[in-house]
Order: sequence, then C-alpha cells, then structure tokens
Amino acid sequence: MSKILVTGGTGYIGSHTVVELQNNGCEVIIVDNLSNSSMDVLEGIASITGKKPAFEKLDCCDRKALAEVFKKYPGIEAIIHFAAYKAVGESVEKPLMYYKNNLVSLLNILELMGEENARNLVFSSSCTVYGQPDVLPVTEDAPVKPANSPYGNTKQIAEEIIRDTIHADRRLKCIALRYFNPVGAHPSAAIGELPNGTPNNLIPFVTQTAIGIRECLRVFGDDYNTPDGSAIRDYIWVVDLAKAHVLAVERLLKNRNRQGVEFFNLGTGKGLSVLEILDAFEKATKVKVNRTIVARREGDVEKVWAEPAFANKELGWKAETSTEDMLKTAWEWEKALEAKRR
Ligand code: UFG
Repeated sequence: MSKILVTGGTGYIGSHTVVELQNNGCEVIIVDNLSNSSMDVLEGIASITGKKPAFEKLDCCDRKALAEVFKKYPGIEAIIHFAAYKAVGESVEKPLMYYKNNLVSLLNILELMGEENARNLVFSSSCTVYGQPDVLPVTEDAPVKPANSPYGNTKQIAEEIIRDTIHADRRLKCIALRYFNPVGAHPSAAIGELPNGTPNNLIPFVTQTAIGIRECLRVFGDDYNTPDGSAIRDYIWVVDLAKAHVLAVERLLKNRNRQGVEFFNLGTGKGLSVLEILDAFEKATKVKVNRTIVARREGDVEKVWAEPAFANKELGWKAETSTEDMLKTAWEWEKALEAKRR
C-alpha cells in the first residue's frame, strides 16, 4: 500500500483526491492549515471511504513542522501538493501573501523531497499558465503567456522552480497537472466546494443564487468574440479530476526510471460559455437562475479549453461525465449545505 502525503487535503480538489486515493488502497496523510477548509471534511471522507485519513494541522511554509511529518510517517513515497491560495482577485490585492504562501511551501516540499526518501511529486498547476492561447484547444506545448495575476504568476514560477530543481537533482520526479475549471461535488454530497464568503467562481455563485442566498448572478460580459458573446471555459467534474491524481501517482511510482517533469492538461476538451452553463444547470436541476449581464471582469480570458489527448494517451485518463451530471452534483451539494444551515 503506497503511503501518500497530501497537502491541502481537506480543500476542494484535495478532499476528492483523498477519497480516490483511499478507494485505490493508498494510505493517505493529510497536512492542511485549515485556512480555507474545515476538520469536518475528514468526517465526510470517512463516510465515503470508511476510513479517516491521518491528519496533521500545519502550514507547509513551516519547514520544521513539515519535516516532522516525514519522521512521524516513515515511507512516504509521493507527495500531492494542493495547498495554496487560489483567489485571483485577492492575489491582486495581496501579492506578497500569495508569493510567500504558494512559493515558500513549494520550496519546503522540494527541499524535503531531496532530504527524505520521497522522490515523487504531483503538483497542482492551472490552465491559467496559458493566458489567452493563440490556438484552441490548447496543448501542453503551447507557450506560457505573461500571467494575468499574482496568483497565476505563482503557478508559472512554481512550474519553473520544479523544472530547475528536478533538472539539478535527477532523483526527483514530478507530474504537474494543469487544471481547467473544476466543478461539482462527490455524488454522496458528503464533500464538495466550501467557498469562503461570496464565491468568486461561477458554479458556487450559480448554486447559491439558485437556492436563494444570492439575488442574482452577474454574467461578466456578453460582448466576447464567442457564439453567444459570453466567455468560454472547459468545466471538468472534480471527481474526474481527482481520479487523474491517482493515475499520476501510479505513473510516477511505476516508472521508476522515467526522469524529469511532465505536464498534463486536465480538461474535457469541450468549451462551454457562461450562458450555456446556465442553460445546462437549469435543464439538469429544473431550477431557474436569476441573471443579469454586466461588464467583463478584469483579467478574464475570452475562451480557453483543453486538448486532453496527452493525458488520455499517457495517463489513461478521460473526463467522461456529462455537463448536466456534474452540475447535478453541484446542486445536490448546495442542498446538503442548505440542510446543514437550517
Ligand atoms: N463568471 C461570471 N459570473 C460570476 C463568476 C464567473 O460570469 O459570478 C464567469 C467568468 O467571467 C468566467 C467564467 O464564469 O468567464 C468562469 O469563471 P470562474 O471564476 O469560475 O473561473 P475562471 O476561469 O475565471 O478561473 C479559473 C480558476 C482560477 C484559474 C483560472 C485560469 O478558478 O484559479 O481558471 O483561467 F486561475
């Protein structure tokens, strides 16, 4: 049974990945500082998998505390590093907070990988590194564009740091996963996305509007160069995304002689506009979403969707869940949260 360290394992993508790892027989140790998640997530994971993962509350910027985890749980073979700040707007307001948190934690992990016998890293990157791609669907070898935000820049710099570190220390290996737009929740509705305050992302705002917490969804822009004028993204079900992490870990552990860092797009290959997503949500749930068209949001790209062929072929992974099915899980999760609020 492989022992896997998951940083940010109580977060949105982290928690769904822990479920998939445990379902595949891995022993998971979560470290998380709970800055944007809660201990209750551990109960949610246990209710799905029948097993509560080991948990250490700590900040990955605290090198000493992180080093102790390797001593306490000897034999960690791979690290999946989710822990990071991720709000684009906040990163513009507080760039140093973002650079410090997202990069110091990565430096600590890379240093400890060199010192401990944990040579394999799966890193959470983002399609934000492509900016507005010149060619769509975007492939992994598309040029990295100047970042639109300090958050996006932390992902670009992180990829470079990983590349340089692994080039210098051939014992280390990494798979960097470039996520497109993860949405939805586990079908059990035991875990899901827990937005802090007013959601920035589209789907939590949609579900909160549908349930009556928010009055109206603002559609940011209807004057883009797209068929209906609203911006296009590649929405991928969080459980499909989580499964790719299990395959990435297996690929690292199986191919012990393969060196270096690999980059994979994790998307469906299909782009949907904001208005199409709203239609799909209403069709899937039979619930109306109040909306109003407002100006474009600063920093948004017009359209981006993935070419996932490399992940399909090399990881043996494919996102197969339909848009309506993934949106249904987001709605079930919002209803479960509402039941708890009452
Ligand atoms: N949108 C709205 N109204 C809202 C929220 C979003 O119209 O209330 C629109 C956005 O303008 C965008 C689309 O819905 O066109 C998706 O927006 P999200 O905020 O959900 O996602 P983004 O594509 O902006 O951001 C995501 C990740 C970031 C990452 C970025 C890379 O959340 O972490 O992709 O493109 F940096």
